Amino acid sequence: MSATRTIQTFAGRVATAAPTSRLGAARCYSVLARATRLSATPTANSWAAAATRFTSVPARTLKTLDFGGTKETVYERADYPKEKLQQIFGKDTMAVLGYGPQGRGQSLNMRDNGLKVIIGTRKDGRSWKKALEDGWTPGKDLFPIEEACQQGTVIMNLLSDAAQVHTWPTIKKHLTAGKTLYFSHGFGVVYRDQTNIVPPKDIDVILAAPKGSGFTVRRLFQDGKGINSSIAIFQDASGQAQERAAALGIAIGSGYLYETTFEREVSSDLVGERGILMGAIQGLFRAQYDVLRARGHTPSEAFNETVEEATQSLYPLIGEKGMDWMYSNCSTTAQRGALDWEKPFHDATKPVFEKLYEEVANGNEARRSIEKNSASNYREELEKELEAINQHEMWRTGKTVRSLRPENQ
Ligand SMILES: NC(=O)c1ccc[n+]([C@@H]2O[C@H](COP(=O)([O-])OP(=O)(O)OC[C@H]3O[C@@H](n4cnc5c(N)ncnc54)[C@H](OP(=O)(O)O)[C@@H]3O)[C@@H](O)[C@H]2O)c1
Repeated sequence: MSATRTIQTFAGRVATAAPTSRLGAARCYSVLARATRLSATPTANSWAAAATRFTSVPARTLKTLDFGGTKETVYERADYPKEKLQQIFGKDTMAVLGYGPQGRGQSLNMRDNGLKVIIGTRKDGRSWKKALEDGWTPGKDLFPIEEACQQGTVIMNLLSDAAQVHTWPTIKKHLTAGKTLYFSHGFGVVYRDQTNIVPPKDIDVILAAPKGSGFTVRRLFQDGKGINSSIAIFQDASGQAQERAAALGIAIGSGYLYETTFEREVSSDLVGERGILMGAIQGLFRAQYDVLRARGHTPSEAFNETVEEATQSLYPLIGEKGMDWMYSNCSTTAQRGALDWEKPFHDATKPVFEKLYEEVANGNEARRSIEKNSASNYREELEKELEAINQHEMWRTGKTVRSLRPENQ
């Protein structure tokens, strides 16, 4: 996709995109409004007039793809080469707050993309030590949180969601007009009635949320690839928030960017991690394992039929080409049974997913998370619970089964 499309082609898209996409409309509006100094919502004629007058202005290039019958817009890395990123953020200091998995991955990728990056993290904490190990230098590009906020023009809040609540009064002091506030999760802003994170009106507030851990963000970037992320705008004070969010999404190491809103990002993310990605999968694994064990199967057999075959053989096939393809690569006996049992599992779990969505939507999940993760001993408590999983017979069995995998022989 070429990066030299003009506003003319972009405006051509406006006619169809504007009514259906809030972000699309905001994006088109901000480009044309800046060009024509429009102060009111533009009419079809004013779009066209602006587009005709500014045919030589390079515009963002977008790709509209068909996702199972619904058209969605994506941005791609090819349109944001390093030089363009450096041009867009040439006057900025990117202050990354937090050096957990996301802070580390995103800051190192931006640094490799030639942007000016500084780290802000609590002095002498785990993250501070990790940043030192990675070559960040105190007083040069590694600072306590408040100092980083002072120096940064783009404040990238990658502290844990609970820490964002406690540090907000400190951060807010330094969010002066014209700065940008960035998140990788809409949590703090969306649940502002609980977090008190209400950004000042005269700054841009944007989001880029990688669809994976910070470790993967870094590893894919180093491999010359990019993780997929979603981007959103909460506040566009500059009229350039959309362009900067897309560019920043690429600068942190993304390959493709999907559009979302802060609200949609939060609810899908919280539901996903509590559901299929983590909570549900451990619950389902454990339920099947326990039944097999209760019926006299050995630990190795129960583990192999529950976890090992899933993660080593079948789930990668789903990832590669879809569920039907995985099914079609299994025996007809397996296919018959899976087709018959899909419905009872769907019907049994759907009410749980509905309850989960409701708990996320009404803010109860956010409240629990803030309360638990704000305790001074939150890490120790989490570690205790994780150790209980680790000590369950299923996962102790897993250690032995893993040692017998072909690649470990
Ligand atoms: N992990 C993912 O898969 C993922 C994906 C997309 C977006 N996100 C979002 O990215 C953000 C960062 O997540 P993460 O995975 O990098 O790690 P995280 O565990 O959520 O955050 C870790 C960072 O928060 C700091 N921190 C914790 N409590 C603190 C406190 N009381 N005061 C000051 N700093 C404190 C830690 O510093 P210390 O080391 O000093 O404790 C560390 O630098 C979150 O908003 C998360 O929702 C995560």
